[in-house]
Amino acid sequence: MMIRPRRNRRNEVIRSMVRENILTPHDLIAPLFVIEGKSSRIAINSMPGQSRLSVDELVKECRELYALGVKCVSLFPAIEDNLKTADAREAYNPQGLNARAIRAVKEALPDMLVMADIALDPYSSDGHDGIVDTKTGEILNDVTLEILAKQAICEANAGADIVGPSDMMDGRVGFIRKALDQNSHHNALIMSYTAKYASGYYGPFREALDSAPKKGDKKTYQMDPANGREALREAALDEAEGADILMVKPGLPYLDVIYRLRQATNLPIAAYNVSGEYAMIKAASERGWIDNDKVILETLLSFKRAGADTILTYFAKEAAMLLGK
Ligand code: PBG
Repeated sequence: MMIRPRRNRRNEVIRSMVRENILTPHDLIAPLFVIEGKSSRIAINSMPGQSRLSVDELVKECRELYALGVKCVSLFPAIEDNLKTADAREAYNPQGLNARAIRAVKEALPDMLVMADIALDPYSSDGHDGIVDTKTGEILNDVTLEILAKQAICEANAGADIVGPSDMMDGRVGFIRKALDQNSHHNALIMSYTAKYASGYYGPFREALDSAPKKGDKKTYQMDPANGREALREAALDEAEGADILMVKPGLPYLDVIYRLRQATNLPIAAYNVSGEYAMIKAASERGWIDNDKVILETLLSFKRAGADTILTYFAKEAAMLLGK
């Protein structure tokens, strides 16, 4: 035998010399859940190790993350029921929980990148990402755009460095870009949820925010899990409309989509390792069925191998600690 691939795996020094992908804390974005209150951390049942944090606790958490090298967080506010309305106006309240959380993190840690989500579901009494037509139940695209733009401006005014439209309305990236620019926020990045699928993997997230749709599902706006080519169509649109980073969500079941976008665009690509993916790994490792630490790092590395530049993951802190060992 002349050719023996095992020679390149003979010991750790050789392996590390030929290693194609490396995971570092800088690759990670930590999604964090925010609630009203003080000194409050409320555990999320279906996401062991994750909690909803009051703003003061959020700031503490961000300090720890930053010290570990995780320098971007994505905030998800849990809005109180009495503030949820059909028009989701709380989404652009400059004194609302979302804006206060963004401001608090930026004040405490000016160099921490703060990403703010754009979508109406946490603020909507219908639990949908867009405005619902009361007669037909249709999710109204163009009416929703106006509110998303207000939300984006509110978030950028509060100091958000990145806005992440996760609503999947048509034309939102261009609409939001224009609105941001008209309000002197030309430096605010848009990380578009480009290929966001109508997925069963969002269950624990919806529990954390109590944001599940009251009626129906999200299949008229989120993508059909059967489709790969359609992601390229969404990517071309988002790129043309001015997105700075394209995201694929969920992550693990859609590694092929990450790979395809990597071939199709020169924009940076983000993977969202979502709540259900987190829950599965935690559930199996709690039972002793898999090795928690190994599976976390292997999973995150798989996103880089597929072509992602950055990874939104609830494992961010744990992985950064493992990588720092
Ligand atoms: C809402 C939104 C969702 C997630 C991020 N933003 C849920 C949904 O679309 O229902 C899910 C994230 C996760 O599961 O970790 N626009």
